[in-house]
This record gives sequence, structure tokens and C-alpha cells, in this order.
Amino acid sequence: MAATEVARQSTDSARNLSLSGHVGFDSMPDQLVNKSVCQGFCFNILCVGETGLGKSTLMDTLFNIKLESDPVAHNQPGVHIKSSSYELQESNVRLKLSIVNSVGFGDQINKDESYKSIVEFIDAQFEAYLQEELKIKRTLHNYHDSRIHVCLYFIAPTGHSLKSLDLVTMKKLDSKVNIIPIIAKADSVSKNELQKFKIKIMSELVSNGVQIYQFPTDDETVAEINGIMNAHLPFAVVGSTEEIKIGNKMMKARQYPWGTVQVENENHCDFVKLREMLIRVNMEDLREQTHARHYELYRRCKLEEMGFKDTDPDNKPFSLQETYEAKRNEFLGELQKKEEEMRQMFVTRVKEKESELKEAEKELHDKFDRLKKLHQDEKKKLEDKKKSLDDEINAFKQRKSAAELLHSQAQQSGSQQTLKREKERKNNPWLCTE
Ligand code: GTP
Ligand code: MG
Repeated sequence: MAATEVARQSTDSARNLSLSGHVGFDSMPDQLVNKSVCQGFCFNILCVGETGLGKSTLMDTLFNIKLESDPVAHNQPGVHIKSSSYELQESNVRLKLSIVNSVGFGDQINKDESYKSIVEFIDAQFEAYLQEELKIKRTLHNYHDSRIHVCLYFIAPTGHSLKSLDLVTMKKLDSKVNIIPIIAKADSVSKNELQKFKIKIMSELVSNGVQIYQFPTDDETVAEINGIMNAHLPFAVVGSTEEIKIGNKMMKARQYPWGTVQVENENHCDFVKLREMLIRVNMEDLREQTHARHYELYRRCKLEEMGFKDTDPDNKPFSLQETYEAKRNEFLGELQKKEEEMRQMFVTRVKEKESELKEAEKELHDKFDRLKKLHQDEKKKLEDKKKSLDDEINAFKQRKSAAELLHSQAQQSGSQQTLKREKERKNNPWLCTE
């Protein structure tokens, strides 16, 4: 066989062989089931709906147990999320069930932001899973998956239409979670009204582009039942944990003065349809859709936001390593640019400071020169003054010494004349004195 032919066979298709005896790999599905049963399952339900619509009662009715649902204050300024987890077991299958409640939903006067904390909670669970996935040491096999698998949206049984709060909230949630809309307390709406109400709700959802969860019809074992059930949406449900003896059977029901509503009677409400669809038929699909559709969308947007992409601008595959390298280079380039900018800024600042200092120095020099000149002028003036004073002193001294000389000469001649007169008087006593 030519080398090219061998290569083509190994890459194109695997050959079909029929075994001559039993090998045992037909037990793969059983192995898978055993492993899954061993690990247990988890299922997280988010209940969104206005206060007192019967959310807790419905959960209790669904799981046939009194779940912890302490009354919570509904006078809070905003909506907050309350999550409770339970370990349930049916036959040998363990289920870790989380019920997440939107406390205070619809209680505020301004309901513009009511959806926010719900969306944030859903995103936070996706983020936690993504962070676990991105870890070097991952423990996804025993990771407590808190991602919301289904959102039961409780619609008030008004018989009219959806409230804008319902439409806005469902629109915000539909790309993040599988929404199953249900009409709560359906026993308060008459049969005819209920039918019209259902049609009205569905048409409003369609006209507002709200995507609700569709029970899958691609698996032929459940395609028929799911197809039928899709047409019954939204389910009109009644919840009750009260058991009443009907015939010789204990039944969950709500008793009224005019009659009894049997929760599990399909002529009375869609509770059984909801339970079948949610738990018995589509629980795994809901989990799968959460991972494959909603989480995948979150992951993609998040990684794209972080700059990761699968292809380069030429549409060629771009590996994580290459993205990392490209990002690193981009980062280094930016760092260098920033460094250069800072260096330039530093040089400019230094130059500015230098010229400022030079200016100041020049001003100082000028000032010094001016002061020096002033000082010299002053000094010269003083010296001139000193000189003229010295001259005056000298002249004075000269005059003084001349005066003294004259004085002494005068004294001398005076005393000689006196002596002469004395002498003359002595010689001539008749000479009178002056
Ligand atoms: P919060 O958690 O406080 O928002 O209330 P909730 O939505 O959990 O409602 P909850 O289950 O506490 O029920 C509120 C009231 O409605 C209780 O008195 C229930 O008995 C009653 N209720 C619950 N389900 C139904 C129902 O299907 N029909 C009628 N008529 N009443 C119901
Ligand atoms: Mg409650």
C-alpha cells in the first residue's frame, strides 16, 4: 500500500470491524451511571417572584419535604439573594439541592434595579466556576457547582398580562439561565381565564424577545412528551404541603369552603407537569444547557474581554500561548511607551527647572551687580566726603596752628611791652598808667 494511502486511511475514517466474541466495552454506559451515582448530583434552582407568591410552598411541595424557609423581611431597600443547600437522597441517588431565593423582589417603589442583584449572583457563580477552571491545580471533579440550572419565574395570577418588572427581569436573565415561567397560585384564576392568560403571557414573551427554556425535542425518547409540554407553558401551579384524605389516599391539596384543589391532579393544575419536566425528564438537560450554553457564553465573553481569541486577524488559529505572548508583547510595548513618556516628561521637567534656576541665578547676578554698583557709588561718595572732611580738618588744623602761633607771638609781644612800661614807670613815677 502506498504511504499516502495509509496516511489517508488513518486520518479519514476508522474501519468497522465485527468482533468475534464478547469484549466488555458495552458496559461503558453502566460504568458511567455507577460513577455518576457514586459522585451524586447537584441541582440549583433559582426562584424569582414577588413576595408571597408561594415560592417556598411550591419548593416544599416539589421535593416533598419541609425545606427551611424562615420568613424574611420584605421591607428592605433592595433585592437580596438567599441561598440554602440541602442533601437529599432517593433510592441510592444523592442530590445536592440548592434553592436560591430573590428576597424582596418587587417590594420596592422604584423597581428599576430589581434584576441587578439576581444577575450579579448568577454571574458570580459562573465566575467562581471559571476561576476554578483556570486554576493550575483544578478540583472540578469535587467542585461544589453553584451555577444556577433553572430559574422558576413566578408570575402573579392577575389574569391580565405580564408586569413590566416581569418582562425586564426575564429579558435580563434569559441569556444567563434556563427560565421556566410559572403562573403562581393558579387556583385563584378560573379555567377559561387561565387559558387566555397563558396565551397572553406567551405572546408578550415572544413580542418582547424573551427566550424561555424549551424542553428539548432532539432526544426521541422524550421528544413527544417534551413537545406537548412546551405547548403547556407557562405552567399554572398550585402548591400545598397539607395532605387531605381523598378516597382512601392522602393527597396534597388546598381546601376551600367551596371545594378542594388537588395539587397533583392534572385537571386542577399543572403541578405534575412541572415536576415531571423539571425533575424526572429534563433535570440533566437543564444542567447540560447551563454548562454548554449559558456558562459557555459567559466564559467566551469574559475571555474575549480579557483579550483572548481563537483566531488572529487573518482568521488563522491563535493558540493560548500565542495570545499570551501577544498580550505580553503588547503589555511590554505599552510599558516601554509609558517609560519613554515618563523619561521625556522627566527631561522636560528637568529642563524647565534648569532654565528656571538659570533665570533665578541671572536675576541674582543682576541684583548683585546693581547692589555692588550702588555700594561702590556709596563708597565713592563716602570717600569723597571723607577726603573733603580730611581737607577741612587739615585746613582747620593749619588755621589753628597759625592762630596759636599768632596768639603766642601776641602774648610774647604783650608781655615785653608790659615789662617795658613797668620799667618806664619805675623810671618815671609820674607817668600815669592807662
Ligand atoms: P416570600 O418568601 O415571603 O416571598 O413568600 P413565598 O413566595 O415563599 O410564599 P409562601 O410559600 O410563603 O406562601 C405565601 C402564602 O401563600 C402562604 O399563606 C401560602 O399558604 C399561600 N400559598 C402558597 N401557595 C399557594 C397556592 O398555590 N395557592 C394559594 N391560593 N395560596 C398559596
Ligand atoms: Mg419564601
